[in-house]
Amino acid sequence: MADNPDETWTSVDEYFERRLSLSDVVLDAALDDSNAAGLPAINVTPAQGRLLALLIRVMGARRVLEIGTLGGYSTIWMARELPDDGMLVTLEISASNASVAQRNIERAGLAGRTTILVAPASESLNRLMADRTAPFDFVFIDADKEHSVEYFEAALALTRTGSVIIVDNVVRKGAIIDASTSDSMVLGMQRLMERLAHERRVSATAIQTVGSKGYDGFILAVVTA
Ligand code: DHB
Ligand code: MG
Repeated sequence: MADNPDETWTSVDEYFERRLSLSDVVLDAALDDSNAAGLPAINVTPAQGRLLALLIRVMGARRVLEIGTLGGYSTIWMARELPDDGMLVTLEISASNASVAQRNIERAGLAGRTTILVAPASESLNRLMADRTAPFDFVFIDADKEHSVEYFEAALALTRTGSVIIVDNVVRKGAIIDASTSDSMVLGMQRLMERLAHERRVSATAIQTVGSKGYDGFILAVVTA
């Protein structure tokens, strides 16, 4: 074990990646091309990608909404689980990120069931609501943390009873409980937690995680009404 706990977390993640076959050439290529294009390495870990995939599988989700595409790494994990007539809509503010993601998704053979909407997520969400798009079964929120409440509200409007909503990055190395923080990302997540404290339409939990991306965590919510 390394002296630095972060190094141990990374080594254990790598151990699980080998034992559980959490990577393949298509996923590796997506990360390689994301790095080459200068995207920040803030994608989910392989183990987290598999968790998203397994949740989609166990619930039989056919329609998935992702808020925050980045290079499409989590997108590939999730879209792979969908049936041929399933569909994943992913929202990305950056046209250059979206073009990296589109290539990665095409190489994965998933372009037929994946649509990237390039615009600020709030605009795309408003459009999906205005279009009265069919409810999504599963929503993964992993975009700018400042708008977490807004994205969660939109996710509620775009889902049905029984849908699952995951929100990434709720712990931020423990900063979520820092009442004097001025970090806008943390403040955004604190506002979401305050919202959840009064939100009757979901049953939610929050799970702390460690791994190759450090110490963070996610919210898992099931829509109950
Ligand atoms: C960071 C990590 C994330 O998973 C994310 O979605 C955004 C930012 C970060 O470590 O800064
Ligand atoms: Mg994230």
